[in-house]
Amino acid sequence: MTERILVVGGGGREHAIGWKLAHETVGRKLYFAPGNGGTCVIGTNIDVGVTDVSGLVQFASDKRIDLTVVGPEAPLESGIVDTFAEEHLPIFGPTRSAAMLETDKAFAVRFMEAHGIPHPDSVTFTDFDKAKTYMFRKGVRHIVIKAAGLAGGKGVFLPDDEPEAIKILGGLMTHHTLGTAGERVIIQERLTGPEISMLAFSDGTRVIPLLPAQDHKRLNDGDEGPMTGGVGAVADVPFVTHEMIDQMYRTILQPTVDGMREEGHPYTGILYAGLMMTKEGPKVLEYNARFGDPETQPLMMLMNTQLAPVLLSCIEGTLTESQVGFTRGKAACVVLASEGYPESPVLGREIFGLDTVNDPHITVFHAGTMVDDGKLLTHGGRVLGVTAWGKTLSDALAHAYGAIGEKGIHFDGMQYRKDIGRTAQKTILVWLPV
Ligand code: GLY
Repeated sequence: MTERILVVGGGGREHAIGWKLAHETVGRKLYFAPGNGGTCVIGTNIDVGVTDVSGLVQFASDKRIDLTVVGPEAPLESGIVDTFAEEHLPIFGPTRSAAMLETDKAFAVRFMEAHGIPHPDSVTFTDFDKAKTYMFRKGVRHIVIKAAGLAGGKGVFLPDDEPEAIKILGGLMTHHTLGTAGERVIIQERLTGPEISMLAFSDGTRVIPLLPAQDHKRLNDGDEGPMTGGVGAVADVPFVTHEMIDQMYRTILQPTVDGMREEGHPYTGILYAGLMMTKEGPKVLEYNARFGDPETQPLMMLMNTQLAPVLLSCIEGTLTESQVGFTRGKAACVVLASEGYPESPVLGREIFGLDTVNDPHITVFHAGTMVDDGKLLTHGGRVLGVTAWGKTLSDALAHAYGAIGEKGIHFDGMQYRKDIGRTAQKTILVWLPV
């Protein structure tokens, strides 16, 4: 029995993971480092930062934590899993070297080439002039520029013209606008098609997919406006069939886990493949080495088997298919963001209307919130994820949107997309199965 669990992180993803862990069994003690204004209701927030690895080890030892779950990528890059493992503290997530699938995009490109995993044509550069020449030869509207290192969701660029492309490349490689993350860049073929997020549990050998999910990265309706960390997500995705999932499993997920093991970096944790569904089949745009945010919110709502045993089985190398199951239906998460998000979110605004939500289909996951003097305040860019279940995606969306507004959940300057799930509803995929 996992009685004491530590969740590292303080976003909507971590609240959703904690919510699932809290509801699947009674008497479990949950801690969140640092947590938010919602996690303090289901557990205890502790004042330790996500990359304070020695502080987290100390806490986990002192409290005899049975399981630590890592939310964000930064602690993975800091080697939290390696350090916990050295101290014999059970922790769910990939080691620092396995997490390179996310933390070093040049590594990921080389890895996919070596193991025949479908991905867009990609070339890595350390030299500005060579990158520029290549980019112009390909045509700037046909390429994507990516920083090789971690950039907190700010490292992917789709230039519209040559001056913009030069500005981006110069910013990354010459002016170091993203620090060391942009010293190496990947110039990648620009693909078209719907994108999905395919997450899977892995114990280093076996890989069990969750349901397909789709997030919305642009701030405004119609996929306009700046890139964000993700302002809405749906799962299961109606246009993704069992045959497509089977193909992703055979051509991407299992070969990735096999390849990582063969290269000496056994991959345990969540493997998140960001996929473009092209006419030739799914291609990996990027890997993430963690649960997605906000994809985790609808996924946890739909998962109907216990989460803690799955996480422990991944750590122990005993994962089985029967451990991972999902309820019928769909779930949707609509993110309510602060005024000024993503550039400069306004904090400290009072949040109203959570007490108006009495629909059993809805759970409101907190992200950038805090409680001060009994008031719930905005405390980050992404504030809340209003997440709802429905028999169909339309039902789920109707429940979620029904809870938002002047008579429901609201705060000054609140921004949210009104078209979450619309792409998933409208897409019809032309697909050549292999
Ligand atoms: N939703 C995108 C991410 O988690 O990176």
